[in-house]
Amino acid sequence: MRCFVAAWPDEPTRLALASLADDVRQRIEHRRVARADDLHLTLAFIGDLADEVAFDVADSVAKLRFKPFAWQLDTLGFFEEAGVVWVGATDATVRPLADLADRVRALLDEMHVAYDRKPLAPHVTLLRGVERFAAGTVAPILWRIESIALYRSAPARQASRYVRVTP
Ligand code: 2AM
Repeated sequence: MRCFVAAWPDEPTRLALASLADDVRQRIEHRRVARADDLHLTLAFIGDLADEVAFDVADSVAKLRFKPFAWQLDTLGFFEEAGVVWVGATDATVRPLADLADRVRALLDEMHVAYDRKPLAPHVTLLRGVERFAAGTVAPILWRIESIALYRSAPARQASRYVRVTP
């Protein structure tokens, strides 16, 4: 299964992000709607994992303890090549977030699980398939990150594109 370690927003944050995604979508007259249930922050992208390994990794990620912290999202950006409009932070080096990603990656190293080693660019994808977008700032959304988990891409017929892997 195609896996990644991520944080999913709590309900108020999810609603705020979904509303922002919809505002941006209307502003740029983009047709494809973002699915609110899919909004998330990826800490490490793994890719294909055998089921047994995925369950082990899910178990270890679930046991990783960290102090909850707030992430303030106030910047809209654009990954031109991917056609992705995202929301993130002006201050890209949020220490607790970087530390958490480092710990997740160290755990994957320990388990000999390969992952995309590109430096973390913390963002929440709001829209896909966008051709042009001018970056800017938005009214801050405060997301208190309290838990992380292993997720996998779901088969197309499921309501959400992503599903948590339960150990
Ligand atoms: P994205 O939203 O910017 O596409 C599942 O695909 C999650 O892993 C998404 O959050 C995606 O980011 C992220 N991701 C990070 N690196 C990736 C890669 N090399 N290939 C696919 N998805 C990646």
